Amino acid sequence: MIRVRLFVGVLLLACLLGGSLGQTLPTVWDVQNREQYPSPRDDFAACGRSNYSWVCDPNRMFSREQVEELNTILDGIHKSSCPCGIRCPTSSTNDNGFIVILAVVENYSYRGGEEEFARWYREHKQTDARCGEDAVIFYDFSINRMTISTGLRNFQTLTDSITETIRAPYDAKIKSQNRDEVFEGLKGFLGVASKVYHGTYTPPGLKVWAHLLIAALASLGFIFMASILFCFCTSCKTFWGEKPAPALDEMPAEEELGKSAGRVPFYHIMPSGIKGDDGDNLIDPDVDSSPTAQEMPADDFAMMSKVAAGRKGRRV
Ligand SMILES: *[C@@H]1O[C@H](CO)[C@@H](O)[C@H](O)[C@H]1NC(C)=O
Ligand SMILES: *[C@@H]1O[C@H](CO)[C@@H](O)[C@H](O)[C@H]1NC(C)=O
Repeated sequence: MIRVRLFVGVLLLACLLGGSLGQTLPTVWDVQNREQYPSPRDDFAACGRSNYSWVCDPNRMFSREQVEELNTILDGIHKSSCPCGIRCPTSSTNDNGFIVILAVVENYSYRGGEEEFARWYREHKQTDARCGEDAVIFYDFSINRMTISTGLRNFQTLTDSITETIRAPYDAKIKSQNRDEVFEGLKGFLGVASKVYHGTYTPPGLKVWAHLLIAALASLGFIFMASILFCFCTSCKTFWGEKPAPALDEMPAEEELGKSAGRVPFYHIMPSGIKGDDGDNLIDPDVDSSPTAQEMPADDFAMMSKVAAGRKGRRV
């Protein structure tokens, strides 16, 4: 009797477990059932993981060991330094870096014009991102295609062109029909991506000296262009809305001197009570007692006159 009950109990349990695993997770995903796609950040069991994870493989396309290896790389990416500036936690821990989640499906069925699953997943599922430092890498085994959706901050690091560059050597494997090849391809790609996120990636063929050379040439080019522009502007007579200063040998005519004599030239912007002259007799003796006159250092005053004289020529 007890044996029969035990048997029935075990059978029921098996049915429940089997049923819950089999029914809730489709093998063909689409816009209608994508809500059920689990997140390895909370529903890790449904993703086939035993703890919080970065990989979700609900259809078990990879072996447990393969998933474990990929998860280790993604965990390493998360140990990069926090890219969110003021939104980073003040206590420095080593797990606030970039977030990369790998989502794998057996078959995703698009219905034309529908947004990519990777993007939908990143925007609707929990990724714990603070400032768009997250990326979702989606792999669809039915068409052997990898798609990537990045948040804004992540995109600034893993740009389109870097993605293309680091993906190229693994592209054949990623597109392969063989699951183990796909695994090797993804592993290789993620390994290099991890260097990008850690800031230790150097593009192939571009060594450090090449970077320095490029920087030096760029600086020289900039200085050259700036000089051209500067020369052009200073030689352009109307640029500042002024005529260039007349040469010193073009002294004003006698009558012009007579006209301007006795007038305070325009450049004598100075505390009231001080009048300028032609530089030989700078301070008017009858305002010597004014307090502002004493405050004005002679050097400053002389310089003001000099600058003014230089700009407008000797007009007084
Ligand atoms: C799961 O991960 C958390 C930290 O993320 C850790 O504290 C916990 O011990 C882990 N559980 C198991 C069963 O490994
Ligand atoms: C994926 O699912 C769709 C819809 O059920 C089906 O038409 C297609 O043949 C499947 N693709 C593969 C590779 O199994």
